[in-house]
Amino acid sequence: MRVDFDPESLGAGAFYRLLTAVVVPRPIAWVSTLAADGTTANLAPHSFFTVACTDPPIVQFTSVGRKDSLRNVEATGEFVVNFAPEPLLGQINATGTDFPADEGEFDAVGIEREPSLRVKPPRVAASPVALECRLHSTLGIGNSTLVLGRVVHAAVREDVVVDGHPDVRRLRPLSRLGRDEWGTLGEVHDLARIAYRDWPPS
Ligand SMILES: Cc1cc2nc3c(=O)[nH]c(=O)nc-3n(C[C@H](O)[C@H](O)[C@H](O)COP(=O)(O)O)c2cc1C
Repeated sequence: MRVDFDPESLGAGAFYRLLTAVVVPRPIAWVSTLAADGTTANLAPHSFFTVACTDPPIVQFTSVGRKDSLRNVEATGEFVVNFAPEPLLGQINATGTDFPADEGEFDAVGIEREPSLRVKPPRVAASPVALECRLHSTLGIGNSTLVLGRVVHAAVREDVVVDGHPDVRRLRPLSRLGRDEWGTLGEVHDLARIAYRDWPPS
């Protein structure tokens, strides 16, 4: 037996809560941007986030509604995706507060910043990875806007790199689940993909 949910009869709000409970775990892009005047540094978590293209490298996040992050990206054409690690949970959540546009989350929450190498928005100093992005395009869909950004630089903190590769156990990623739930890294399994020429596996 299954329980059926019809998006039409449930309505957008309730179906959104269902969707975010079953599309899990979601990685969190902690997006930093600069306001058009270059003064206010904005920071907000976005869990509708993934890789959109590998060549060129493009990542995407979705703004549900029109928010400061989206407005800033549209105005400046730049943003940084800061990695969201477990030790920074409280700060990441605090930057999801709906501060007014002229009150930047870096200052309001007390988050240390550092300059980016290739773009103007600052990075979060305590985050182990920064993906510096230039706006590729946006796509309006219903009540949301998909933001695609070309990654022009990746800065990875030395202590999370093992044998030249970012190590997930050192990165300690947070994820977003349903409701107000957050996830941390569970067990990690190593299992190589099976090529068709080796099918069936012995
Ligand atoms: C973990 C987490 C994930 C979130 N993911 C999204 C998201 O994917 N898209 C979105 O529009 N808002 C998302 N939000 C809400 C925004 O972070 C929130 O509306 C924030 O105030 C937007 O800030 P801004 O106006 O400075 O851009 C999320 C909040 C949290 C705490």
